[in-house]
Amino acid sequence: MIFTIAIDGPAAAGKGTLARALAAHYGFAYLDTGLLYRAVGAGVLAGGEAVAVAQALDPSALDNADLRTQVVAEAASRVAVIPDVRAALVAFQRHFARRDGGAVLDGRDIGTVICPQADVKLFVTASAETRAERRYLELADKGVAADRDAILAEVVARDARDTGRAEAPLRAATDATVIDTSDLTAAQALSRALTIVDARRG
Ligand code: DC
Repeated sequence: MIFTIAIDGPAAAGKGTLARALAAHYGFAYLDTGLLYRAVGAGVLAGGEAVAVAQALDPSALDNADLRTQVVAEAASRVAVIPDVRAALVAFQRHFARRDGGAVLDGRDIGTVICPQADVKLFVTASAETRAERRYLELADKGVAADRDAILAEVVARDARDTGRAEAPLRAATDATVIDTSDLTAAQALSRALTIVDARRG
């Protein structure tokens, strides 16, 4: 059984939470494609050349807490504008999407470029202020001191880079369903998504 759920949207909109919950609900495999770009970004921070790092990437070695930092997120967003970096990561993602048993992928270009034939496309978004506040609370929860205004500026800057790049920019596919999570709990967002997926699964 091949069934692909593509989830796109800006940073901290709740895509990962939703994608994981959908994958668990249906017993599908889950790929956080941001980790691929984060791994390349981390490789560049360690002195590597972006395209070479992307071409040599071992996608099975991505479960690494070091990739979750803001510094690596920034580096990921910068390498993600390079067409040859993106090209090096396409085959792995497409193969994952078509694995037997169903797959959920989240990222920025899944419904538009990686899986234009996905069975379900969701575009998960929220206001920049809401997303910055969530990130702030996440950091506060971990005991990390953070500045609200600096986080909002970072969110806006990353949005601008992800949306404004020439290659595979962040945008909703024309046939995607938009879920704005600004005023939704994670459970409410999941409930909307389940209705959409169930309708497609028949
Ligand atoms: O989802 P994330 O925050 O882990 O993604 C980090 C960066 O990687 C993001 O700012 C842009 C890039 N990215 C991308 O260009 N395409 C994807 N499918 C996923 C992430």
